[in-house]
Amino acid sequence: MIPFFNIKSENESYAKNFAHELSIFMENGQFILGDAVTSFENQYAAFCGTKFCIGTSNGLDALRLIFEGYKSLGLLSEGDEVLVPAHTYIASVLAVIQSNLKPVFVEPKEESYGMDINEAIRLTTSKVKACLVVHLYGELIDVKAFQNFAKEHDLFLIEDAAQAHGAETKKGLKAGAIGDAAAFSFYPTKNIGALGDAGAITTNNESLVGQIQMLQNYGSSQKHIHKKIGFNMRLDALQARFLSVKLSDYPNLLNRRLAIASRYSEQINNPKITIPVHPQDGSHVFHLFVVRVPDRKDFIGFLESNDVGSLIHYPIPPHKQEALESYNKLSFPITERYHNEVVSIPLYSSLTDSQVQRVIDVLNAYS
Ligand SMILES: Cc1ncc(COP(=O)(O)O)c(C=O)c1O
Repeated sequence: MIPFFNIKSENESYAKNFAHELSIFMENGQFILGDAVTSFENQYAAFCGTKFCIGTSNGLDALRLIFEGYKSLGLLSEGDEVLVPAHTYIASVLAVIQSNLKPVFVEPKEESYGMDINEAIRLTTSKVKACLVVHLYGELIDVKAFQNFAKEHDLFLIEDAAQAHGAETKKGLKAGAIGDAAAFSFYPTKNIGALGDAGAITTNNESLVGQIQMLQNYGSSQKHIHKKIGFNMRLDALQARFLSVKLSDYPNLLNRRLAIASRYSEQINNPKITIPVHPQDGSHVFHLFVVRVPDRKDFIGFLESNDVGSLIHYPIPPHKQEALESYNKLSFPITERYHNEVVSIPLYSSLTDSQVQRVIDVLNAYS
């Protein structure tokens, strides 16, 4: 069986370094915040090319803290509208709703998974104050177009970069440095995965950083003084150590990931399977290799019978989820079609060359 993801083989080569980090951690007793968190934050800011990085408890909280930070600065208010992709993981939408802001769903561009800029423009009224773009599956949105759009309409451009670590434009502008602030997830299966929940925010805005650091730490930047109704949304200090180890090796992992994606793009040539666009310029880091097929059930059955794992990202769009009942009647035809057709195939750095070949052969044999 070729599993969809192999968490054990992905982490095996770091076991010694992780054990070393754990022993230092136990020895110095700095379990909450401290040097390990700061050091990872500095390392990640440098990686993204931003002035600041703030570690967080997870990716959802990172998004949430960005919105709460802007509210705390008086730059967003409850009820303000935020453009958000209809085709995304529910976390993007939950962050908006939990911050008492209002999501305005935007369809993806046909034949692409990113938000349709023309739809975004059409839906922008004076109530819209921010645009949350998602670099879905690891592919950057149309950077220049969204930067210009946000500037023209005076919107905060916020990146959900949970799936796009290291994706960059031709000019070398990286995910995390494109908008006013960005959220990352280090969920264990992400391109850079922790050994538990973890996330980060990147930005160049120092006053936003001050608010977020206070809010994530019980509304306190000075012990026993609580200025805001804050949260506990700090990056775990042990995860910060593990993440520093993983981040140092990420260029190698990303190269391997991109090499596998290239082989898939070049060699999967089955007319029944739509493969993703492959820019080959670093703007897509292939967190997921998502194909589309008209009869998904049949296709997944075929993969299973040939011992190839797969997953669906995602089977039900956010606006059709029970949790978002008040939005259930909305209709987004492109999003709904994609949610019926998408299938993610195995793509991770510890896949062997022969496993990659096997995936290609199985997909090409599907009829
Ligand atoms: C696009 C997107 N946004 C946000 C998140 C939330 O991240 P986390 O699971 O770390 O809270 C995820 C990952 O699960 C995601 O894929």
